[in-house]
Amino acid sequence: MKTEDHQSNRLDGQEPAQKVPQLIPGGLFIVFEGIDGTGKSTQLHLLAEKLRQLGYAVVATREPTNGPYGQKIRKLFVDRGSVSREEELELFIADRDQHVKEIIKPALSDGCVVICDRYYLSTIAYQGANGMDQDLIMKKNEDFPVPDLAIILEIEPAHGIHRIQNQRHEHPNTFEEKANLQKVAGIFSTMRQDYIERINGSDSIENVYRLVFEAVAKVLAQKTTQQVES
Ligand code: ADP
Ligand code: TYD
Repeated sequence: MKTEDHQSNRLDGQEPAQKVPQLIPGGLFIVFEGIDGTGKSTQLHLLAEKLRQLGYAVVATREPTNGPYGQKIRKLFVDRGSVSREEELELFIADRDQHVKEIIKPALSDGCVVICDRYYLSTIAYQGANGMDQDLIMKKNEDFPVPDLAIILEIEPAHGIHRIQNQRHEHPNTFEEKANLQKVAGIFSTMRQDYIERINGSDSIENVYRLVFEAVAKVLAQKTTQQVES
């Protein structure tokens, strides 16, 4: 079970660093993407802890959220057939809309680093694999903030499922079936946005984290340079 603060959707219940935090004008928005079991949640927690140690104000959050739409979405994991694929897409969009308005945008305006476990690339991949048109999905997401960095963790679907079963001790749900994850992984592999960084998630947690931090350090440095120049 992943630890989280159900009231705020914060993943670890921690407030930003106690000392005066280092704020970034406009914030920094990082998302973790990839199929289930790639290590997104593990890497997100390591990164959030490191950035807090460095003095940044960090908001760690996730989608689906714990809000009303997120709770409806979680019911689909056991009964996906209870809604049409169009309704399923609308639930993810409604959940994101509320998440962006209530958590993501305010935190970015406050100068925080927002780290989110899944965002709209997951909608393109999962609802795309479910038969929805990818351009239509992108259109429904076009008003949401674009991430500064999307880290796609890549792993063989069978390896991801193995981790869910043997390390997280959970039974894969309908979204996590092998054939579905193969389609989802196929769509993730075709994505070409310039803010995407692909990292092999099948290496050790430490080795994956080293590459994650390298990618984050690069965007942090770019933000700092922009600050100095403006
Ligand atoms: P996700 O959030 O992508 O579904 P998790 O971070 O929950 O994935 O990881 C799934 C399981 O695999 C967890 O039990 C986690 O401890 C373990 N795990 C995560 N990353 C690695 C890794 N690089 N090597 C081995 N096990 C890992
Ligand atoms: P996951 O991160 O695995 O959460 P949990 O820890 O509750 O299992 O995400 C839940 C599932 O939701 C995952 O299988 C991917 C799916 N999903 C979509 O289908 N579309 C989306 O837009 C998002 C954000 C998630």
